[in-house]
Amino acid sequence: MLEAIGLAKRFGGVEAVVDVSLHVAAGEVLALIGPNGAGKTTLFNLLAGQVTPDRGRVHLAGQDVTGWTPRALAHHGLARSFQIPDVFRSMTVRENLQVALASHADRLWRFWSPLATTAVAEADCLLATAELGHLADQAAGVLAYGDVKRLELALALVGEPRVVLLDEPTAGTAPAERAGLMRTAIAAARARDAALLFTEHDMDVVFEHADRVAVLDAGRIIASGTPEAIRADPVVQRAYLGHG
Ligand SMILES: Nc1ncnc2c1ncn2[C@@H]1O[C@H](COP(=O)(O)OP(=O)(O)OP(=O)(O)O)[C@@H](O)[C@H]1O
Ligand SMILES: [Mg+2]
Repeated sequence: MLEAIGLAKRFGGVEAVVDVSLHVAAGEVLALIGPNGAGKTTLFNLLAGQVTPDRGRVHLAGQDVTGWTPRALAHHGLARSFQIPDVFRSMTVRENLQVALASHADRLWRFWSPLATTAVAEADCLLATAELGHLADQAAGVLAYGDVKRLELALALVGEPRVVLLDEPTAGTAPAERAGLMRTAIAAARARDAALLFTEHDMDVVFEHADRVAVLDAGRIIASGTPEAIRADPVVQRAYLGHG
């Protein structure tokens, strides 16, 4: 569903991503791990169109989409969340979804069709998927952090994506909360037969929830395989797991 072929990106003297190839199939859950600064977010930015690659191609659902804008990619079925949550804090949880749904559908807002009546049913359906229905009328700015991450997940599901990229979907949440968050995200992706690619620093979450793991170190994929194979890989242990 999503394929990267030889992606590369340099920022000045920093080779952030070096010749990265990977693929995620429909319904598959791929974890991208690696130390801070390994290039995970940059790779997401290359896949989702926020950054243009110096080299390499991106294919989405069989089409070469290299260089497409984030908006064009979103309309072709690629959704992403950001490492730092990006929600409208003064709006309610439901309104955040309504704005995203209206924006995705290119619906024009007019004074006779206020936000209050826009896409309420679709918004509530996505909130139920993210297990946020009970907080629909809360201002997003007062949510607990785990609920902000759930809102981000709901926002990433706008437009029935074929590929969902989640950059640290559990970052900043309590360890006890992480498995629940991941289960919700994976159930939502599988229900849509979407490909899910996520980054994560908590190895318990990675090894429990991923079908496959790719390890990035200094911009390069140094290993990729099942969670069991990755856990046992001495190269990975040296480069990453050993540092805790
Ligand atoms: N816009 C930019 N300009 C200059 N350097 C950048 C830019 N974005 C990223 N970098 C550099 O590229 C490298 C990879 O950063 P990136 O944010 O992709 O890592 P990461 O794996 O997501 O790290 P983390 O786990 O901390 O989120 C780092 O050295 C970073 O400083
Ligand atoms: Mg990052």
